[in-house]
Amino acid sequence: MRTQVGIIGAGPAGLLLSHLLHLRGISSVVLEKRSREYVERRVRAGVLEQGTVDTLVEAGVGERMLREGLPHHGIELRYGGAGHRIPFEKLVPGRSITVYGQQEVVKDLIAARLAAGGDVRFEVEDVALHSLESQPYITFGGERLDCDVIAGCDGFHGVSRPAIPEGVLSVFERDYPFAWLGILARVAPSSEELIYARTERGFALHSMRSPTVSRFYLQVPADARLEDWTDERIWAELRTRLETVPGFTLATGEIMERGITPMRGFVAEPMQYGRLYLAGDAAHIVPPTGAKGLNLAVADVRVLTEALAAYFADGSTGLLDGYSDACLKRVWRAQHFSWWMTTLLHTFEEDDPYARKLQLSYLDYVTSSEAAATTLAENYVGLPFDR
Ligand code: APR
Ligand code: PHB
Repeated sequence: MRTQVGIIGAGPAGLLLSHLLHLRGISSVVLEKRSREYVERRVRAGVLEQGTVDTLVEAGVGERMLREGLPHHGIELRYGGAGHRIPFEKLVPGRSITVYGQQEVVKDLIAARLAAGGDVRFEVEDVALHSLESQPYITFGGERLDCDVIAGCDGFHGVSRPAIPEGVLSVFERDYPFAWLGILARVAPSSEELIYARTERGFALHSMRSPTVSRFYLQVPADARLEDWTDERIWAELRTRLETVPGFTLATGEIMERGITPMRGFVAEPMQYGRLYLAGDAAHIVPPTGAKGLNLAVADVRVLTEALAAYFADGSTGLLDGYSDACLKRVWRAQHFSWWMTTLLHTFEEDDPYARKLQLSYLDYVTSSEAAATTLAENYVGLPFDR
């Protein structure tokens, strides 16, 4: 079997790449280890940057997102007994975010690929990459797929990055000494906008998915276990951390889904080797505080699509050779922003009273200086893709 681009992984990166290539007349096969049901149900992040929204709309897969997604024009930073709104409409006019679950994006992309006769294979076993320097091919479940190039879109725990010979990649990494416990609950959001709350007991985030479904996160110790967190304990802790301003009460409901996510920053450079190109979580991870993971994957895929379109049009390799460099600028900006948001809002055990005072002073600065608030806002809604 032969295709132009062999894509490993049917997350947002792999699926969007397959779709964008299709629009350029380039063939691909997507190989996914999990079932379709699994990837469509997997609850992940839910904040789409302006550029991500524009990309999906331009690619003809934004219809349901525009209908069901929730446009937001600000977020709240809550600390010290008060809420402070960061108004996007004032600080970054014309740019906003849309709250729409990652798994909804995945559903829309799978539907679009299948409607166009795309080749997306689920529950594929034993994917392995071969001959990356030239004439690459992928083996899986007893079959062989020859390709011109391979796109490794198989996330942080995939097989693509480890297929690169030792010594080629430089890895930059930061583990945080805490994790996020996330829940999805059948209850109307208690706030119209996202609330990022800093408290002495740790960070909490109030997000949402629809007028009847809310999403919450709690900072918990890195070794926290789900079985130690009963529904009552989760709601009590969310209340303690969020009901810190006069007049705010948190509505509670049935918890439909829960999970613990480790917090780390990770970048592997370069994001390519021979005929293999890494995109999304396969190449980099950010802590979720800046809501950048999915958006970075989309940005990578845009760059890769242009490079592959040029290559398949006339054999030119300039853009492909520059793929990693073109992506890494944005990747590192997002690493910094995510680290910055994380340190601004979480409690660190090693923090002494002096460090806590510094953190609060910085929060006061971000919420009172237009320059500082604009820094947050322009990174949060996402820097333009064409810069
Ligand atoms: N063979 C085939 N598929 C694989 C393999 C493998 N060996 N290993 C992993 N996969 C699949 C996973 O099952 C998953 O469906 O690759 C896919 C990778 O998807 P994601 O982890 O969603 O990564 P990506 O597409 O880069 O999306 C970016 O944004 O919100 C963030 O981290 C979040 O996943 C999100 C990311
Ligand atoms: C989410 O809604 O899942 C979400 C929102 C904001 C974040 C992270 C996750 O920073």
